[in-house]
Amino acid sequence: MTTTPAPSSIPALPDEAIAVRIRNLNYFFGQGELRKQVLFDINLDLPKGEIVIMTGPSGSGKTTLLTLIGALRTVPDGSLKVLGRDIVGMGRSQLVDVRRNIGFIFQAHNLFDSLSAAQNVEMAVELAPNWREKRRQAVAILTQLGLSDRVDYKPKALSGGQKQRVAIARALVNQPPLILADEPTAALDKKSGRDVVTLMQQLAKSEGRTILMVTHDNRILDVADRIVTMVDGRLDSDENLGHFVDTHDPKTLDRRMFIL
Ligand SMILES: Nc1ncnc2c1ncn2[C@@H]1O[C@H](COP(=O)(O)OP(=O)(O)OP(=O)(O)O)[C@@H](O)[C@H]1O
Ligand SMILES: [Mg+2]
Repeated sequence: MTTTPAPSSIPALPDEAIAVRIRNLNYFFGQGELRKQVLFDINLDLPKGEIVIMTGPSGSGKTTLLTLIGALRTVPDGSLKVLGRDIVGMGRSQLVDVRRNIGFIFQAHNLFDSLSAAQNVEMAVELAPNWREKRRQAVAILTQLGLSDRVDYKPKALSGGQKQRVAIARALVNQPPLILADEPTAALDKKSGRDVVTLMQQLAKSEGRTILMVTHDNRILDVADRIVTMVDGRLDSDENLGHFVDTHDPKTLDRRMFIL
């Protein structure tokens, strides 16, 4: 890929305007001789209310970075601030506390097979005085995701894309200020994928939520405020959509996004 120097990748925004601020982050898997560095000197800001799309080849470190930002792993090195809290060196219970403010949409759906779609979402509802209100919130978000006629179905009676949407509903039901999504549209057809990203765009624009989304799906790139590319554990470029489109040959773009 040809890369043209991107505009300054680190905007000088004040701390209050930033949901995630990463400086000089390195990450290693394994111990001793097997120790292998997978993230190299990552610097990235996610401003509040923005949708940032992360793309890049398989194995380049996207999911690893997402799980670090999501406080799903301890962060030994560098600086990583999530929603105003520095999570480097935090213990497990503090990390759990940070996680309460994050909606995760990961590749594996992890739905409970014995529960209906609505019950799977109800399980995640944190603030509700009673089950009736939990149910109301669950049905409302499932309806927004086009599943109003499937709320009482169990996962085995749902298609892959429908299950994915239940998982998305579960991640969004508590209205988290930060949403981390790993290939949220991978199992969806064109229309459902578009519905999901349109909903995300509404959340970001009208409610100021911050979204970091890993995707190889170039049909949805247009919702991004910025696109970052990870290559071999490094953030290769960090640019706004206009710059990305201007500087990438569409054919190269397609190939890079679909061989993954
Ligand atoms: N638990 C682990 N232990 C050791 N190495 C790991 C572990 N998880 C991931 N890796 C390695 O870290 C590197 C980055 O993996 P990661 O899953 O972050 O890539 P990715 O960009 O999300 O790829 P994909 O697009 O295939 O999902 C890979 O080389 C992978 O083999
Ligand atoms: Mg991954």
